[in-house]
Amino acid sequence: MNVDNNKEAVSGYDFDVLVIGAGPGGYETAIKSAQLGKKTACIEAKHFGGICLNEGCIPTKRWIKTANMIKEMKESDRFAVKGVRPSVISADLEALQARRTDIVNQLTGGVQMLLKKNKCTIIQGHASFADNHTVNVNDGLVTAQNIIIATGSNTFMPPFIAVEGENNLITSKGALELNKLPKSMVIIGGGVIGIEFAYAFSSLGCKITVLELMDNILPMVDEEVSSMVKKRLVKDGIEIINGAKCSRIKNNTVFYDLHGEEKSVDAKAVLMAVGRVPNTNGLNAEGIGIEFDKKAIKTDKYLRTNIENIYCIGDANGKYMLAHTASHEGFVALSNIDGKNIEMNYNQIPSCIFVNPEIACIGMTEKQAIASGYEISVGKFPMRGNGKSLVEGDVSGITKVIIDKNSGKILGVHLYGLHVSDMIGEAAVAMKTGAKADEIFEAVHPHPTISEVIPEAFMAAVNGKSINM
Ligand code: NAI
Repeated sequence: MNVDNNKEAVSGYDFDVLVIGAGPGGYETAIKSAQLGKKTACIEAKHFGGICLNEGCIPTKRWIKTANMIKEMKESDRFAVKGVRPSVISADLEALQARRTDIVNQLTGGVQMLLKKNKCTIIQGHASFADNHTVNVNDGLVTAQNIIIATGSNTFMPPFIAVEGENNLITSKGALELNKLPKSMVIIGGGVIGIEFAYAFSSLGCKITVLELMDNILPMVDEEVSSMVKKRLVKDGIEIINGAKCSRIKNNTVFYDLHGEEKSVDAKAVLMAVGRVPNTNGLNAEGIGIEFDKKAIKTDKYLRTNIENIYCIGDANGKYMLAHTASHEGFVALSNIDGKNIEMNYNQIPSCIFVNPEIACIGMTEKQAIASGYEISVGKFPMRGNGKSLVEGDVSGITKVIIDKNSGKILGVHLYGLHVSDMIGEAAVAMKTGAKADEIFEAVHPHPTISEVIPEAFMAAVNGKSINM
């Protein structure tokens, strides 16, 4: 293999580290690996930046930005702005798509530039294992001492939902590419993807019905918060049916079971959002003896597969399908390649859901903390007690923190309010460094900001009362 960077691999292979997949997990891991002095290559079959930059996190946020702007403009009189005629405001989806392409091109170009700048060899092609140190790519062989699989995931099309007739059934990828919004849409699945699209499309004028199997939407979010979110989305015009088990789509009618009774709902389009499955297509991982757990590549707490020099990070290991988890897993895998035996900690991973207002959480829900045997103290602070939220025009959310009553250890932080996705990092640092609840409110938070809700909620958890509520 002709390798295009000037450093020699110390291992005697073409590369010290070979990363398969250039999504956020893969490309950041490859850059970090090169920065650690390892001769590194990154192989990508399709788009640099992976699903996240091309068909996921980033393009979705573009739709949400437009939805948020329309919402604000329609309410301009609340903000003392004259001259906006709400009845004529609508989204220009063609312009939105053009802007989306621009942003995606900028970011994916940036990924390749960063890889090059850090002297990673870029290989465009589909990798397939020949043995545990060798992959086949573009009819040639590439060898490496250590290989990190970061091949991501695909949309799950559930075999238990039968699809019949002529229909307009789309996945999140198709939804992002729409040039014209249908008048109505049924969204199957009230998880993160389902709810983010429900918010965006409903704000742009599409009549949305969400069918969710569980009793709550966003089943991973603290129940108290998720029921507040549901109330708000319903108030904003979205129909949400919980306990609905979809079994069949005929044309554009979705049939579902609700407490033992068959019901149906019609729409102009149906969005399938019941999860994602690890992508290992054409990788020949089974062929060289890599073990799987259902569709996911099985890894231990060090991110190692059953083959010692092969690691798997991100959606492909099926553990915690979030871009920032994937990159962090990659850094942990690199430490373990260096013999450091670092365990991956999944309890301190923040998660953000981009509806309006936003949801951001980290750690345990109240239910999980109780089930784990902690004696807990819960502190809450409603957004209506925060001046900046009032000025910004939305006070419907809450801050909820869960601490260990005896030690003051932070167990979970759940934020529902404007701009909270930009605030949850504070809780991540606090949990990582082992800060106690009182240390949070002893740290000075700037006024007037929404971040003031965090010390207020921690005060409520420790002292039973906050200042401004
Ligand atoms: P998900 O697992 O979050 O939600 C799928 C939902 O479908 C669940 O609530 C489930 O109960 C429901 N469901 C399953 N079968 C059903 C049926 N027959 N009828 C009705 N409902 C049914 O999966 P989702 O939303 O597709 O997201 C996939 C992955 O992408 C997740 O891991 C998510 O965390 C990640 N993601 C993260 C984002 C973020 O962090 N902002 C944005 C988008 C995706």
